[in-house]
Amino acid sequence: APVEIQIDPKRVISEVDPRIYSGFTEHMGRCIYGGLYDPGSPLADPETGFRKDVLEVIRSLRVPIVRYPGGNFVSSYRWQDGIGPRELRPRRPELAWLGEESNQFGTDEFMQWCKEAETEPYICLNMGTGTLEDALGWLEYCNGTSNTYWANQRRKNGHPEPYKVKYWSLGNEVYGPWQVGQMSATDYAKTAFQWAKALKLLDPSIELVACGETGYAAWDGEVLNTLAPMIKYHSLHQYTISAGDHMVNVTGPAGAEKGIEITKSLIDLARIANNVEEDITICFDEWNVWDPKRAIGSLGAEEHYDLSDALAVGCWLNVFVRKADVVKIACIAQSVNVISPVMTSPTGLYKQTTFHPLYLFANLMRGSSLALSLLGSPTYTGPTQPKWIQHLCPPALLDASAVLSEDGREIRLALVNRDAERDAEVVCAFAGVRVREEVRVYEVWSAEGLGVQNSFDHPDKVGVVERAERVEGGKLTLKKHSFTLVCFTLE
Ligand code: AHR
Repeated sequence: APVEIQIDPKRVISEVDPRIYSGFTEHMGRCIYGGLYDPGSPLADPETGFRKDVLEVIRSLRVPIVRYPGGNFVSSYRWQDGIGPRELRPRRPELAWLGEESNQFGTDEFMQWCKEAETEPYICLNMGTGTLEDALGWLEYCNGTSNTYWANQRRKNGHPEPYKVKYWSLGNEVYGPWQVGQMSATDYAKTAFQWAKALKLLDPSIELVACGETGYAAWDGEVLNTLAPMIKYHSLHQYTISAGDHMVNVTGPAGAEKGIEITKSLIDLARIANNVEEDITICFDEWNVWDPKRAIGSLGAEEHYDLSDALAVGCWLNVFVRKADVVKIACIAQSVNVISPVMTSPTGLYKQTTFHPLYLFANLMRGSSLALSLLGSPTYTGPTQPKWIQHLCPPALLDASAVLSEDGREIRLALVNRDAERDAEVVCAFAGVRVREEVRVYEVWSAEGLGVQNSFDHPDKVGVVERAERVEGGKLTLKKHSFTLVCFTLE
């Protein structure tokens, strides 16, 4: 029997915040150097050293915010080293990835790059080796308008206008043993509270992001409970892994969805306990498919994604659209070369398989997120990572999200048929509205199977096939292991 998808355009979950299509660039591997900044390349702007092809592809993704400069990197980063005349900037040992940091790309370069990429900067503060004084200096350098030291340094460096950086996060993964300056939840929350107070005194217009964990860790509850009066967002980080098993790969985002649901309740609890009237929402500022074992031996976690990974990315984005009420920012980690949908060489660029669902979501899945009911899709009960997905929230083989487009004219469905063996017959039933039989379909799929990858030699093995189709009675066939975005026009 076909799977029935019931959609009622009046059942709006929330507006899809475009900031869920945000990015992340860290000083890691070839993300910055050799990625977005590549002065030696014929593809770089001779003046700025920014890769023009990278800028173009980032603009095509309509990325609202880019997080910077880490990640783990930030926890031993001295931002002061990355400003002023380039020839005077010190090279430093880098402790997160055990390399060297040339500091040729720093705050001012990032701000200019954001302008050219038509995106907004989001700075993560160093709570490892960094002091509150360093953090206040960075904020003053970026946003200061007074006749004070760091604001004047920015002017001296050729930037009279403040950058007005709105988003600042209080440290990165401070809970992790891999982090320089790891702290307990209690110590972190206590310190971050005082940082938040001072930062807000300097610039009350900023929005602060607390360092959260997975959403289902004890850390999340404790940190939220202390920081609720000071923050606008609680951050979550999760990477799903393929472990060489397609179903593990595409069911991993169900763990993120559970983390989001739990965090939503933790936020409510913290707001009740602290009498906080303002909204606190989730900033999922690191997410992606990342299989460290598979990436071993690659340069700085350069993953080579296949079709299965593209479908996993489709499932991730479905989660964010379904949870539009509480996830207001999400940053794919990362945006260039490092665990990224975009890969560069000195002379070119190609789009990985994962680029395509991201591109379709970022451009089409905007508007209002709609509640939907999925009837009759078999539940997957095999192995998952984490293992508890299997018994706590076993996912259906079909994964779906829906939006009413910004102009109110179309209902768009993003559908992942996770089943590697069988096509799925689907019937879309719309409550209270009639839709035209002609639909636009965008499909990400390959006859070569789940292991197919794009590369410099074969950049288009997996892409988007766009077609017009006539859909009678809302009936669609979704190919096995495919991602399909269908646009229905309201009559
Ligand atoms: O994105 C790669 C790394 O993953 C980040 O530096 C860190 O925050 C996370 O563990």
